[in-house]
Amino acid sequence: MCGIVAYIGNKPAKSLLLEGLKRLEYRGYDSAGIAIMNGKLNVARAVGRVSMLEEKLETLDGFDGSLGLCHTRWATHGGVTELNAHPHKDDKHGIALVHNGIIENYSALKTYLKEKGHTFTSETDTEVLAMLIGELYEGLGSDLEAAVQAALREVDGAYAIAVICEKEPDTLVVARKGSPLFVGIGAEEYIVASDAAAIVAHTTHAFALDDYNVVKITRSGFRTSTIHNVPVTPKIEQLELDLQQIELGGYPHFMLKEIFEQPQSMRNCMSGRIDAKDGRVTLGGLSNFAKDLTRAKKVILTAQGTALHAAMIGRYLMEDLAKVQAQTEYASEFRYRNPIIEDGTVVVAVSQSGETADTIAALNEAKDRGALALGVVNVVGSSIARQTDAGVYLRVGPEIGVASTKAFLGQVAVLTMITLFMARRRMMSADHCTDLLREMEQIPAKIERILEQAPRIKRVTEKYIDRENWLFLGRGYNYPTALEGALKLKEISYIHAEGMPAAEMKHGPIALINEGMPAVFIANKGRQYEKVLSNIHEVRARGGHVIAVATEGDEHIADHVHDVLYIPEVAEPLSPMLAVIPLQLMAYYAALARGHDVDKPRNLAKSVTVE
Ligand code: AGP
Repeated sequence: MCGIVAYIGNKPAKSLLLEGLKRLEYRGYDSAGIAIMNGKLNVARAVGRVSMLEEKLETLDGFDGSLGLCHTRWATHGGVTELNAHPHKDDKHGIALVHNGIIENYSALKTYLKEKGHTFTSETDTEVLAMLIGELYEGLGSDLEAAVQAALREVDGAYAIAVICEKEPDTLVVARKGSPLFVGIGAEEYIVASDAAAIVAHTTHAFALDDYNVVKITRSGFRTSTIHNVPVTPKIEQLELDLQQIELGGYPHFMLKEIFEQPQSMRNCMSGRIDAKDGRVTLGGLSNFAKDLTRAKKVILTAQGTALHAAMIGRYLMEDLAKVQAQTEYASEFRYRNPIIEDGTVVVAVSQSGETADTIAALNEAKDRGALALGVVNVVGSSIARQTDAGVYLRVGPEIGVASTKAFLGQVAVLTMITLFMARRRMMSADHCTDLLREMEQIPAKIERILEQAPRIKRVTEKYIDRENWLFLGRGYNYPTALEGALKLKEISYIHAEGMPAAEMKHGPIALINEGMPAVFIANKGRQYEKVLSNIHEVRARGGHVIAVATEGDEHIADHVHDVLYIPEVAEPLSPMLAVIPLQLMAYYAALARGHDVDKPRNLAKSVTVE
């Protein structure tokens, strides 16, 4: 996904826009660009981080106006070049546009516009949209709002856009379909951004655009309508984000901050929702659907990436504790299959951002076939939160690090609470639920105990950072945890890592084992402990180096592995919430030791809002 910030008011726009853009840089950071209206339209673009654009601007004049827009890009159409960086312009009227999303019919539109005599300078779909607005502009009485509405009526795909025009130097037009966009309302000034992080420093008074909304903004006010020019009244709310939540707070990286926030984020996530004494879970967002969940015949959990790993743990929980048939689905696969959705099916979309395009599409596919649609998301008011029948927010606070950590834990905790919410209405006794809830209440303190081992986990990790291929292996509840450990390592250290069920190794991957190859086993006390130990021996016998995540007090395992990272004793269904912590720290320290940008790993973006 990309980041958009736009401003119209009485302050110099440049520094305000760049400060906001830096807060959105986790959304994508291949290139950045800015357009400022200062009597005439001035545009500057640069490949790389926002800081590269800042350096370029220091050498340029003409960027002193109080109307402008800017963009940080995660490349979809077209390579990472300055010509493909946003803003993009039309070739007639001094129109500049920034865009987050995908124009699916851009090729047909580009052919039409070329036949109209327009020449293009980039490979992007966004330039086509800018050119289309320019083509329609004059015919609609040189009215930017009308030209944007008309152009968007021709467009298929997803967009969040901000547009300015040299011929209307006091007007900013923004629009949304499928990609989030918020308008912050100040005193005779407005700041528009892809997420609230870029707005809260200026105002907490804001509204989110709905799909097909177009907003025309001037310094004296704004008008909201649809792409068919039907007036609409936006729902103005107070943003609940505060700056301290989105700043580093003394940590070197957001990822480390968010790993160490997990004891508190778990307390926040569970607060007011679990009553261990009475053995009950209260989830306000599900109260109207308690009967549907009680009678559910099947639960389909769908997500991508880390969220899918959390969903997989949710599947084990629901099957084991709520005794309901449950399955997980890659959203990107589920949406294109011809899935069978029978009566009594509940679909759960799991997503930190609530904006992952494939997850949204899979959710809607299941909804259209009659499933009850639930969301487990972190971002309040996100697309998934708005498109589900009900849901449960993670309440772990904004997650800025591209590699998901506290949100993963929040997803697992919420899915555990949903499972117990269902189980108590199906056949779980109050005592059994009380026992598990008492254990859940102790999770934050147990995470703190693991975090105290961070220096040791760092030392163990650094022994292996020269190895280019790792295995992560687990069984039962911790098979998905192994997948998550592999993904964390891959996405920020760029080391190739593969997660799998420990037993699966013998069916092929064991051929990979060579002298010194790291194999991380989740070997906490549980039903399959002895089986995991056997798998460890199979790796050791072939020269692999074994790092075990084991239960405190298990001295036995130390005789069979090279390194042990201990976690406190915990009920097996809750063990992923502890076992994942050493894996998160290992990935962080490996990336650090290899000199990578932990918070902005190459090629990645925080949420994949394109398909
Ligand atoms: C996690 O570390 C990755 N950044 C990625 O796999 C992410 O979990 C996935 O893209 C899903 O994002 P979502 O939770 O916002 O839907």
